[in-house]
Amino acid sequence: MSAMVHAGLGTGESSPGRIAAGGLDLTHGTVLYLDDISVSFDGFKALDKLSLTIDAGELRCVIGPNGAGKTTMMDVITGKTRPDAGTVFFGQTIDLTHLTEAEIAQAGVGRKFQKPTIFEHHTVFENLELSMKADKRVRKTLFAKLSSEERDRIAAMLARIGLAGDAGRIAGLLSHGQKQWLEIGMLLMQEPQLLLLDEPVAGMSDEETEKTAELFLSLAGRHSLVVVEHDMAFIEKIARKVTVLHEGSVIAEGPMEQVQNDPRVIEVYLGR
Ligand SMILES: Nc1ncnc2c1ncn2[C@@H]1O[C@H](COP(=O)(O)OP(=O)(O)O)[C@@H](O)[C@H]1O
Ligand SMILES: [Mg+2]
Repeated sequence: MSAMVHAGLGTGESSPGRIAAGGLDLTHGTVLYLDDISVSFDGFKALDKLSLTIDAGELRCVIGPNGAGKTTMMDVITGKTRPDAGTVFFGQTIDLTHLTEAEIAQAGVGRKFQKPTIFEHHTVFENLELSMKADKRVRKTLFAKLSSEERDRIAAMLARIGLAGDAGRIAGLLSHGQKQWLEIGMLLMQEPQLLLLDEPVAGMSDEETEKTAELFLSLAGRHSLVVVEHDMAFIEKIARKVTVLHEGSVIAEGPMEQVQNDPRVIEVYLGR
């Protein structure tokens, strides 16, 4: 194997230089490719030869019963859990299973956890400012004055996440839904290629859920999104392609109507 091919496969030691050097290789239109991923906890298979492909710019919904392995899948993609077997390609050349959590985040994978991790004592504006400056690629000190371009970026993000009128509010005083949007905005300030969202509308009011659906639809195309959620009304609103996990593998995949009418899916999940 030539050195070039070897580097291209990303099978070697983690190499931050290769990641930072340039954009993600999306030549085949695939942003994420999980191949034959298995994860065991004390002999219990949380993921069982899971394979999954996400296209660049796609908005993919992942559903399935509790314990199906949805969160474990996100843990594997983000480097929190090492799989026993399998590969996770981010673009054509980066195998995420060889990178640390920090390297994966820096490579362009953002993850929203169920509990928002915002700075409660700072204003909404400052939260976005801090997340922008935490971006290692930008290399700014936290005390550097914002350029007008940076101010414009923050203003645009405030509008996008529906918090333009709340820029000066202390983040801790926001509603539950607004906090979730702020955290999504903070992730977006780092311009991730791929955004993973685990149960993003849990605990939201109907109106907040509705707004979140609109936000996600507006993000598809410029980002690739993988959304895990139990709220089927929400899934129906945003769904293009839906993947159903059960016992660590994909049991159905396709448009919402197709998946909803799949006898196996009805049996293990929807028909309860
Ligand atoms: N760190 C862990 N240690 C042991 N078992 C775990 C761990 N994480 C997840 N599991 C188990 O793996 C299975 C899949 O869990 P999870 O990925 O959280 O499912 P989901 O998010 O689809 O509800 C569950 O049976 C869960 O108990
Ligand atoms: Mg979960």
